[in-house]
Amino acid sequence: ASLRPLWVQVEGFRRALAPIMANAADGVHLLGYSQGGLICRALLATMPDHNVRSFISLAAPQMGQYGDTDYLKWLFPRHMKSNLYRLCYTPLGQGVSICNYWNDPHHRELYLNSSDFLALLNDERLHPNASDWKQNLLRIQSLVLIGGPDDGVITPWQSSLFGFYDANETVREMRAQAVYLQDTFGLKTLEARGALGGCAVPGVGHTAWHSHRPVYERCIRPWLT
Ligand SMILES: *[C@@H]1O[C@H](CO)[C@@H](O)[C@H](O)[C@H]1NC(C)=O
Ligand SMILES: *[C@@H]1O[C@H](CO)[C@@H](O)[C@H](O)[C@H]1NC(C)=O
Ligand SMILES: *[C@@H]1O[C@H](CO)[C@@H](O)[C@H](O)[C@H]1NC(C)=O
Repeated sequence: ASLRPLWVQVEGFRRALAPIMANAADGVHLLGYSQGGLICRALLATMPDHNVRSFISLAAPQMGQYGDTDYLKWLFPRHMKSNLYRLCYTPLGQGVSICNYWNDPHHRELYLNSSDFLALLNDERLHPNASDWKQNLLRIQSLVLIGGPDDGVITPWQSSLFGFYDANETVREMRAQAVYLQDTFGLKTLEARGALGGCAVPGVGHTAWHSHRPVYERCIRPWLT
């Protein structure tokens, strides 16, 4: 089910979460792990009446993914990161979740033209709902970004903190990203409000984030107020 297109999964999350939000007069905290962190951000952008206080993005590829991981080899045995764009940036490819946030720095224009999810969510490809989506996301009180260098799946790992590769595969941090500088979906606004928190934690592998006590104590619990 996790391979289904992300906008389909967003609707599933909406059906599950809308009644919970409706029954929470004081609002809720939303924690999205891995791909779920992207799904949750898309839910927040497209949900005008959400009442999320802290949105915690745990090891999520928020700026996309570009890397040869075991997962990729299992999913697309005949592809590598250098040629997956041929499949991902087609209507067929966009029917698979990972292609929705595949962000090949060597095929930027194709990404911008073809990504039906991340390029829209980041407002990298212009669309009429962008300003509404930004307003919706900005209803949150805080955005907490958590990731780390030993993740092993999120590539580059800085994607979990809104960093990403430039055209030379050098990682540029969040504040050097166009989406931040142009505040396309609200990231810069959130930081200016003091609403942006986060942790880069070494020594945590991708499948350990959600059961790692020190990460919870240090990076998550302080935001559950
Ligand atoms: C992207 O779309 C534009 C406008 O349709 C087109 O001119 C351009 O060739 C496309 N670029 C790529 C790399 O597909
Ligand atoms: C996008 O905008 C249209 C027209 O304003 C609106 O009907 C639609 O619900 C919006 N969709 C999302 C996902 O925000
Ligand atoms: C990539 O490296 C080349 C050669 O060193 C340089 O000319 C170019 O400006 C770099 N591009 C980026 C986006 O940093």
